[in-house]
Amino acid sequence: MLGALMNLFSLCWKPFGVNADGGGISSGRERREGLLCFRDIGRYASGDFSMAVVQANQVLEDQSQIESGPFGTFVGVYDGHGGPQAARYVCDHLFHHFQEILAEAHGVVTSETIRRAFLQTEEGFTTLVSELWSTQSHMATVGSCCLVGVICQRTLYVANVGDSRVVLGKKVGNTGGIAAIQLSTEHNANMEAVRQELKELHPNDPQIVVLKHGVWRVKGIIQVSRSIGDVYMKHAQYNREPVNGKFRLPEPMNMPIMTANPSISSLPLQPNDSFLIFASDGLWEHLSNEKAVDIVHKHPCAGSAKRLVKAALQEAARKREMRYSDLKRIDKKVRRHFHDDITVIVLFLNHDLISRGVVQGPPLSIRSSLEH
Ligand SMILES: *[C@@H]1O[C@H](CO)[C@@H](O)[C@H](O)[C@H]1NC(C)=O
Repeated sequence: MLGALMNLFSLCWKPFGVNADGGGISSGRERREGLLCFRDIGRYASGDFSMAVVQANQVLEDQSQIESGPFGTFVGVYDGHGGPQAARYVCDHLFHHFQEILAEAHGVVTSETIRRAFLQTEEGFTTLVSELWSTQSHMATVGSCCLVGVICQRTLYVANVGDSRVVLGKKVGNTGGIAAIQLSTEHNANMEAVRQELKELHPNDPQIVVLKHGVWRVKGIIQVSRSIGDVYMKHAQYNREPVNGKFRLPEPMNMPIMTANPSISSLPLQPNDSFLIFASDGLWEHLSNEKAVDIVHKHPCAGSAKRLVKAALQEAARKREMRYSDLKRIDKKVRRHFHDDITVIVLFLNHDLISRGVVQGPPLSIRSSLEH
């Protein structure tokens, strides 16, 4: 009973730090509808944001954060697999590494700053796995996709491992039209280019990608080729007992099969760049880039993230010939048969602030609560 009450009142995101988000007022603006948790609207350094998450797994495997400070804005969407631990670790450590590296670099953000933050996070997690190996060997088989966006001055950096995605809504001419432009590169074996890359890296391994029950998987085991964690696919010493047999490779691993090296791109922001949709794979499984951009464009900013999650859930229900109202009644865990955990963060770009180089408001730090 107490557990149920705690669950009802537990927050999805926590404001961090002394002055974080105006002293924690944010919690009052957060709403919950069953397994859906959302913040209709809030302010970050360069405009307004909207965020939402819906849980499908027994334990939420998605984590996310928005941080803004003098450097600009940092957004992270972490989609865990095999368990929540790697995504939680990333949510707890990646931004700290980014801040430390940034301080050493005198506050200058580059693609390398972000790459080093990813690799240090990977190193830290690998160390944790080695420390826990004798008691919690399953930590070797948990991993997380990791999508990061950094807005610094007038440039947007996007770094990604795995299959989360960020899509830009860009105004076209003066007609009120909008274009959807995908900014992230994905690493899922269902993409021909990813299979090609894997085959080139492992020319002597005919089993590097295997089609299993209609889904392409790396070594017949996992869909993504890059992640933080999944150390059983990176270091031979973790690909052995007591790790569960379904994760163990039949032959010796001579080189890492997966990597934590992110694909990174940078984009100078232009006045016709209207908003960014960051979301875990769970959203894109049911909504196209165009549809998502259209939904945000045609409605008020407030509630955008929730609207996208609901549109995806409606589509998931439709595919199963169910009503959305019936889907909503299905509890977590069983929900996973209908859709995945879904995280959405929409950032609206205020070009008045961006072009003046002004960072609005106090530093902001919103992170997933870890008690889920
Ligand atoms: C957006 O604006 C830039 C310059 O500000 C222009 O070069 C570009 O063509 C515009 N894009 C669209 C899709 O209208």
